[in-house]
Amino acid sequence: RWNEIPLAPPDKILGIAEAFKEDSNPKKINLGVGAYRNNEGKPIIFPSVKNAERSLLETEVEKEYTGINGSKPFQSIVQNFIFNNSNKDAAGAKLIGGNRIVTAQTISGTGSLRVIADFLVRFNSAKKIYVPKPTWANHIAVFTDAGLDAEFYAYYDNNANDLDFANLTKSLEDADPESVVLLHACCHNPTGMDLTPEQWEVVLEIIQQKKLYPLIDMAYQGFASGNPYKDIGLIRRINQLVVEGKIPSYSLCQSFAKNMGLYGERTGSISIVTESPEQSKAIDSQLKKLIRPMYSSPPIHGSKIVETIFSNPELLESWLGDLDQVVGRLNTVRDKLYQKLDKTNYNWDHLTKQRGMFVYTGLSKEQMIALREKYSVYATEDGRFSISGINDSNVDYLANAINEVVRD
Ligand code: LMR
Repeated sequence: RWNEIPLAPPDKILGIAEAFKEDSNPKKINLGVGAYRNNEGKPIIFPSVKNAERSLLETEVEKEYTGINGSKPFQSIVQNFIFNNSNKDAAGAKLIGGNRIVTAQTISGTGSLRVIADFLVRFNSAKKIYVPKPTWANHIAVFTDAGLDAEFYAYYDNNANDLDFANLTKSLEDADPESVVLLHACCHNPTGMDLTPEQWEVVLEIIQQKKLYPLIDMAYQGFASGNPYKDIGLIRRINQLVVEGKIPSYSLCQSFAKNMGLYGERTGSISIVTESPEQSKAIDSQLKKLIRPMYSSPPIHGSKIVETIFSNPELLESWLGDLDQVVGRLNTVRDKLYQKLDKTNYNWDHLTKQRGMFVYTGLSKEQMIALREKYSVYATEDGRFSISGINDSNVDYLANAINEVVRD
């Protein structure tokens, strides 16, 4: 019966860990998945998260199902965190106050993308979604599996190792009107290259002209500046445009996987900014109708950690400190790697402009394969390094391996 099922290829990102495990070279380095490692090469639990868990252990009295869309406190925390943080986002506060944001807890960032993709297939007249070239390897699969038609818009110039803003704007100007456009809020994955506020302004103008529907993916909030409250300039600006009636609505996918280190807890959200409180009511009910047959309701441990941290000022302060340290280490290893790279044959300056968990080296597929086969350096073949895998013990070996491969 199943004999004709072909073998599926390993996942482009998660498949790397499997290959890495099988390598017996003691000097092997895993720069594959975007998940934080400390200077000893070990995954961590944020101290603030551990403390929230201790408190939960004492106080938790049930493990009941949460709502299909998650708990009300979680929804409200996420809304205030993203759309009304530090009271700097008057427009965001207005949208919350006017019941114009519908938030559902989802199975982390991927789950939020899948939920909104299914929602768009059901309710958006245009089924086309434009995604940056390149984008996170899983985006296309999520969107096309849901039934959207994914197409690239220009984003990055691989020869110049820089943002290709002229072609980016041109391809959005050529996009089919009313289509969906995927925007990375900050720390673009995989390139680490973000638009400046002035460049966002140009893009938002095209979005208005072409009536495109913005879908924002914010997986790395906090990783650009070290402070999650500083990394949401795009959200604040778009909220203003919504309040002014220039952009009618948009959606935002978000997760606590990276900025709270809750990877396996699968804790994230989808927020849909709507045109009216009546629309919010209908959309909320439709999200429930969509989620219930898919996975019934989201897991509760991660969202309770988030609720615990946000409802305790000390824990909140401590989480912001934890995140700042993580981002600080990433910036330090980025600098260290840059210092050690040989610049005689290759200009590495783009590394210093990139932000977040990744450097996008510009190395070719052949060079990435050589790194893996000759030096046991594992990373995606698009030239992306997840830099938290770099530490004091392996940075020299890694820089030397890269220098050799570039020289060959
Ligand atoms: C990544 O890009 O490595 C992360 O977002 C992890 C994943 O699920 O791919």
